[in-house]
Amino acid sequence: MIIAVDGPAAAGKGTLTRALAEHYGLPRLDTGVLYRAVAATLLADCLDPADTEVCARVAGTLDLSRFADADLRTSEVSQLASVVSSQPDVRKALLMFQRAFAARPPGAVLDGRDIGTVVCPDADVKLFVTASTEARARRRWLELRQAGTDIDLQSVFENIRDRDERDSSRGTSPMRCADDAHLLDTTEMDIEAAFRAAVSIIDAVWPGTGG
Ligand code: CDP
Repeated sequence: MIIAVDGPAAAGKGTLTRALAEHYGLPRLDTGVLYRAVAATLLADCLDPADTEVCARVAGTLDLSRFADADLRTSEVSQLASVVSSQPDVRKALLMFQRAFAARPPGAVLDGRDIGTVVCPDADVKLFVTASTEARARRRWLELRQAGTDIDLQSVFENIRDRDERDSSRGTSPMRCADDAHLLDTTEMDIEAAFRAAVSIIDAVWPGTGG
């Protein structure tokens, strides 16, 4: 079973897909990490993000073990990930890996921006998880503060708003709710409620999988 989860920045896809992967006994791929690692490599090696050939080469030779998760979650890396992810050759270089991951039995839970539309258009279940920009900014701000990052709520809000705008307006694989995706607005939901809502959608579409 392939579960595709897309949605805007800081919508809670990470927490939700971790819980879904455990519940259904499936491996999980956070595809944002791939774009974040491209950005982190460019920064660490002082490479030019405007050089599309260099970016594509970095994407094709990614070494994920170079970075701790916290190094990939900074605002600088988030912004640059969103910039380089608009380059068609970067996306192409990462596509095969994502598809191969999803194709291995028994399937997978993938989260990103274009999973239901481009990476796995035939996914068994598609969710588009969203929440108001204010709610998402507050959640990400709390998360960053808990991790020890000193940042104000307004900066986090602007980072998220800018990325959403760039991610949804790019020419290649823009962030979009697939026509056959189920919309899950978590503005008024806590983690537990969002998880229960996602499970009831998945179990209705794909009966017999529930734990
Ligand atoms: O965790 P958050 O929602 O803030 O971001 P993420 O999922 O880690 O993605 C970081 C950036 O990578 C996004 O802003 C997108 O520009 C890009 N991305 C993408 O273009 N396609 C994907 N499938 C996943 C991420």
